[in-house]
Amino acid sequence: MKTQMTDMLDIEIPLAAFSHCRDVVAAVTNAGGIGVLGATAFTPDQLELELRWLDEHTGGRPYGVDLLAPAKLSFTDETPEQLLAMVPAQHIAFMQDMLHKYGVLDSADDYTLNPSTPSVAPDQVSAALEVAFKHPIKLIANALGVPPQEMIDLGKKNGVPVAALVGKVRHAEKQQERGVDLIVAQGYEAGGHTGEIATMVLTPEVVDAVSPTPVLAAGGIATGRQFAAALALGAAGAWTGSVWLTTDEAETDPVVKQKFLDAGSSDTERSRARTGKPARQLITAYHEAWASSNNPDPLPMPLQGVLVNQAWGRIAAASTKGVPGAAELDSYFVGQVVGLMRQAQPAREVVRNFMDGLVEAYSGLQEQLEG
Ligand SMILES: Cc1cc2nc3c(=O)[nH]c(=O)nc-3n(C[C@H](O)[C@H](O)[C@H](O)COP(=O)(O)O)c2cc1C
Repeated sequence: MKTQMTDMLDIEIPLAAFSHCRDVVAAVTNAGGIGVLGATAFTPDQLELELRWLDEHTGGRPYGVDLLAPAKLSFTDETPEQLLAMVPAQHIAFMQDMLHKYGVLDSADDYTLNPSTPSVAPDQVSAALEVAFKHPIKLIANALGVPPQEMIDLGKKNGVPVAALVGKVRHAEKQQERGVDLIVAQGYEAGGHTGEIATMVLTPEVVDAVSPTPVLAAGGIATGRQFAAALALGAAGAWTGSVWLTTDEAETDPVVKQKFLDAGSSDTERSRARTGKPARQLITAYHEAWASSNNPDPLPMPLQGVLVNQAWGRIAAASTKGVPGAAELDSYFVGQVVGLMRQAQPAREVVRNFMDGLVEAYSGLQEQLEG
């Protein structure tokens, strides 16, 4: 295939796979698309190990790195200690009770907070960028807002395209002005942090607004038919996330993986209950508790993360150990396409299905056009 995306990234299939799991990234890259490693959770040293592994397992084929690096390099001016002090006692009591009630904690008093923010720590952004650009990356992406100038400058200097996710036309225009090379128009139905405009509407709007800058469609793309639709909307390719969470290679918590395979498209919601910003995730008892009118409202980012991040580590660990209450709470970010994710399969197979479905969709349309 040939699109602006395949030309820019030197790939065969205009398909990007966002994943936190290096095995998924390598499998998609080796199958002709581009795997993009979600690197937010790694320290620079861990990132170095991940990228070294990817270099050894991708044979020089293109892969990318995605960071969550805010333009001003921090979500907040507060120190970790100040953040801890800002979490209201009522919220802590609510989470303590929830974890106690569902058998995650033996005693409600064991509850602990975590002051780390859901981005690369401000003092580590430069170090993470330095590590990334030491490797032969073919794409660097930023998840939230305009990338820091340092990312754009390093991209230009090293000839590595810089991508950024947007949920509104205005944001896409701003990204283009700042020198971003590839815009990912991510719709409402996507897993993770997402805006309010659906992919079907957002993609052509953004394509028209930033032409000739290439645009990838993201959100709601898990099959070849949806891949075909993305290209028909004017996108240069598709950017996908959820569909990889149920692949054999994905390190998704096994309880959650099974929940995804069983879930329908109505089983997700955009909720502030996990990070403080609207992020689409599988609805469980956790979200129902937060949504109840008797309970407190989620805190803004980054305070909600400070409140619940540690708890999520405990919920996942207890759920994996078979604690029934923990399994009821257990969840993860996923898009509405979860309803189409019906069987665990190798990532390479998913890439093949995307291509087969794309070809089938186009030949079906061709037949219809010819009458
Ligand atoms: C589990 C999960 C975590 C995500 N984390 C990030 C992230 O850290 N950075 C980012 O740019 N996008 C992130 N996203 C969004 C994806 O990059 C992608 O835009 C989205 O998954 C596309 O929609 P889909 O889920 O319908 O495929 C995440 C998505 C999921 C499902």
